[in-house]
Amino acid sequence: MKNSTKSGHSAFAEDVDKGLSADPKYLSSKYFYDDEGSRLFREIMKLPEYYLTRSEMEIFTEQGPEIFEAFGRNSDPFDLIELGAGDGIKTAVLVEHLIDEGADFRFVPIDISSEAIDSLTGGFHKRFPSLRIEPETGDYFARLETFREKSDRRKIILFLGSNIGNFSREQAVGFFRDLRDVVNTGDRVLIGFDLHKNPRTILNAYDDSLGVTPKFNLNLLKRINRELGGDFDPDKFIHYASYHPIERAARSFLISDEDQTVRIEALGKEYRFRQWEPIFMEISQKYDLQMIEELASESGFEIVRNFFDGNRFYADSMWKPSA
Ligand code: AVI
Repeated sequence: MKNSTKSGHSAFAEDVDKGLSADPKYLSSKYFYDDEGSRLFREIMKLPEYYLTRSEMEIFTEQGPEIFEAFGRNSDPFDLIELGAGDGIKTAVLVEHLIDEGADFRFVPIDISSEAIDSLTGGFHKRFPSLRIEPETGDYFARLETFREKSDRRKIILFLGSNIGNFSREQAVGFFRDLRDVVNTGDRVLIGFDLHKNPRTILNAYDDSLGVTPKFNLNLLKRINRELGGDFDPDKFIHYASYHPIERAARSFLISDEDQTVRIEALGKEYRFRQWEPIFMEISQKYDLQMIEELASESGFEIVRNFFDGNRFYADSMWKPSA
């Protein structure tokens, strides 16, 4: 079986079992991104309430040359590695600036969705015919280790879109420490952080008026049905989003609107849901500058420069390994 673990189940099946057997129940948002989930996320990025993508796009559109300058040692060739590249629309804006500046680089986009990687690669080949692209499909956690061997060129690692916000604090520090282990002195990491702001602006981004975010969450139940032989009825769950202004965390839940039992064939088990029982689906952490500084220093990095959009909704933070 693909990705099978000691129990003989796939890692996905095992994580689903762990989450649905816990109290309170949870599912990991890293499983949102099958091809359908990636398509729904592309819809989310176009929503009027979802300011994150537009804010980061503004930073890349208006500050490309400054970002390139902050890479340092600009005449050296480098690998531009993007973790969780998705459709690459924002990155294309940065790549265009880099090409205009005469940078000598290869682009290595990595994403779990083969559909997303194929469409990104096709689009980039058309738009930047002379750019060298080495796309990789897979889990970027698993790829980190291979960066060490991959090349002796400088690495500029992009982790955009506030993807870090979907990690718990411990996971975020663990992830950055792993990253620290595979970067060298001259390398740089550029990370997108969604900043704290009017709580209503944040909440609306996760509770959109067109109802795409509920579909995005419910797709994980459908994925369990498709891939693990589950019999979830998505119509029996409602989506609920919250924002906690002290913790600076947006959270999404699917809530069972009746007492029900769900069977998952691949696990040979049934899971009981009480009426109004929540499944915790996703955290989208928001940050202030102190939180970003603490994350960097706890994981062995220092901030080279922060780039903000005009509203100060969002920051792309450039880090280098501390000496
Ligand atoms: C991918 N990630 C940064 C998105 C976010 O904002 O947390 C995922 C998302 N969830 C609901 N809307 C968007």
